[in-house]
Amino acid sequence: MSTVVKTSPHETRTMPAFDVYRVRKDFPILHQTVHGKPLVYLDNAATTQKPQAVIDAITHYYRTDNSNIHRGVHVLSERATEAYEKTRLAAQKFINAADSREIIFLRGTTEAINLVAQTYGRKHVGAGDEVLVTNMEHHSNIVPWQMLCEEKGAKLRVGPINEHGELLLDEFEKLLGPKTKIVAVGHLSNALGTINPIKQIVGMAHARNVPVLVDGAQAVPRMPVDVQDLDCDFYAVSGHKMYGPTGIGFLYGKAELLEAMPPYQGGGDMIASVTFDKTVYNRLPYKFEAGTPNIADTIALGAAIEYLNQLDLKNIEKHEAALLDYATGQVQEISGVSVVGTAQEKAGVLSFVMDDIHPHDIGTILDSEGIAVRTGHHCAQPVMQRYQIPATARASFGLYNTREEVDALARGIRKVKEVMG
Ligand SMILES: Cc1ncc(COP(=O)(O)O)c(C=O)c1O
Repeated sequence: MSTVVKTSPHETRTMPAFDVYRVRKDFPILHQTVHGKPLVYLDNAATTQKPQAVIDAITHYYRTDNSNIHRGVHVLSERATEAYEKTRLAAQKFINAADSREIIFLRGTTEAINLVAQTYGRKHVGAGDEVLVTNMEHHSNIVPWQMLCEEKGAKLRVGPINEHGELLLDEFEKLLGPKTKIVAVGHLSNALGTINPIKQIVGMAHARNVPVLVDGAQAVPRMPVDVQDLDCDFYAVSGHKMYGPTGIGFLYGKAELLEAMPPYQGGGDMIASVTFDKTVYNRLPYKFEAGTPNIADTIALGAAIEYLNQLDLKNIEKHEAALLDYATGQVQEISGVSVVGTAQEKAGVLSFVMDDIHPHDIGTILDSEGIAVRTGHHCAQPVMQRYQIPATARASFGLYNTREEVDALARGIRKVKEVMG
């Protein structure tokens, strides 16, 4: 894809719409050596690196605007409040929520799912009821539901996956019954890269009046997401996986559901009035934002969203798809390497195992080559159990990764074979 750019008053040039080498300059951390080799950062599913714009937003806030929000009448407080609320509007637009009241700032995906389990879940799930997840969920979309089921005497049901790591939709639909009170499903699997057919899943669940929570941690940095089009009821996001800071993320929830849910935590800001007899809760979204929030990182998340908007997620999606294709081809050419997760619809993640070599050794030898990958169960132990493996090595891509880095990965894997062989 290319765009025509006016480079001078007399000249126009066709430029690539997405120039990865230019983009890399925005990320200071990438330009370093590790063990004497240029850093090749392929651990983006764990966390992404931050562009200068995000780093600057944090510094700017603490240097010029630091103040508590919502309650102050002075200039600093007004500026901080305005910047904080500006991120809410940016987040609303980013996932196309109908209303900014539907965006609740939290620490991230884990906290967002716990919020829904502890509020909506506690209110609607009772003894004998069921919560439906899939076999490929991250622990953060399993354990909060398990805790709820344990407390309520309810049952966690699990939609099975095939050998490629694709959800078996027919089986999944059969598990949806009158006892199902909520479906919780990942948009993009961090362990396999599988993209789940969310619209279809939502259609199946809504036909039975069952709401759907989507874990969007890995999807939002990799593809345009439109929650109104998906028609999901809740969508959970982590800022640090979308080039923003750690410690901030958000939950999208349909307003009518959020309105009817009890608060998650009590404290300042989430109230309209308090007496010892009765507390009246604040309106949305503040009802769910008790106490002083993570103001600096929320503002910097706004900078990350603006950065992604400028690059355009459609370009990022194409860039990463080409990279994943190329990497899959390169890695599969090496004998003794097997890719885990070969879904038709897949993005961002290349999990693999090597004959007779423990993933931990793969990770350590790649690190000695300056290549950062993750090894282990990726907080998705039930996926590992499904494939009867203890762990995988996982290369996960971000918008700044290049074909040359994929070549370095392939060379690194060959070195692993040499050293361990
Ligand atoms: C698919 C998925 N869901 C949820 C999470 C949890 O995100 P966080 O730790 O930012 O809350 C992760 C993090 O790896 C993830 O990959």
